[in-house]
Amino acid sequence: MKKYLFANWKMYLDVAESVALARAFKNLKQSSEISTAVFPSALAATSVVAALQGSAIAVGAQNVYFVDKGGVTGEISAAMFQATGCEFALVGHSERRHLFGETNHVVRQKIDAVVTTKIIPVLCIGETKEQRDKNETAEVLEAQIRSAFTDVAWPAGRDFIIAYEPVWAIGTGAACEPEEAERIAGLVASWTTALMGPEFALIILYGGSVRPDNVSAYINQTHISGVLVGAASTHEDSWQAILEAL
Ligand code: 13P
Repeated sequence: MKKYLFANWKMYLDVAESVALARAFKNLKQSSEISTAVFPSALAATSVVAALQGSAIAVGAQNVYFVDKGGVTGEISAAMFQATGCEFALVGHSERRHLFGETNHVVRQKIDAVVTTKIIPVLCIGETKEQRDKNETAEVLEAQIRSAFTDVAWPAGRDFIIAYEPVWAIGTGAACEPEEAERIAGLVASWTTALMGPEFALIILYGGSVRPDNVSAYINQTHISGVLVGAASTHEDSWQAILEAL
């Protein structure tokens, strides 16, 4: 089964650093069984696409806006990212939801916009520590999925990717136990199949403090096909160690 290794560079790297890291990634040996994508800043997207020409590494957007073109200061549309060569887009990353107030409704508008392009959306879902402590995890995640996908006009044949990223595990070093991530991934699979039908082959990723020493524990779970890596994807050494661990 194909595995997915996605690198979310967040706002860690400027353009020159992004291009240098992309070139370094391009030179690393990796199995053809692993599908890799990097998500640079919007500013670096064009240069990173150029740097990765001729490699199997795809490029994605960290965020998109849901209007194609217009008077929307500071935003960038899915269509514009597509024109630069981006093949994926993160939608509803927890840093967008919590730092910038993106609601489930906004996330849905972004999903609707992305599926009108050729870009594959990666819906990010996750509960906060407080929600987990109050036993609200399943309710919160199911609501995020329902809102994003109910009656969505999903294009036939388009990959369907959901990244489970518990908010409390992102950037904290406190990764979710692989068995618990697998339990959640099983729930995600059942909710999504009920909503969309079995014809959409769902790809589920785990994200949150993934490192070289824990990556294989996630990727070998039944319902988890890959990982979305933040900090550990922003250094050549740790990325190489992740590739080797796989
Ligand atoms: P870290 O790997 O830095 O915890 O970040 C995870 C993440 O948010 C990926 O999208």
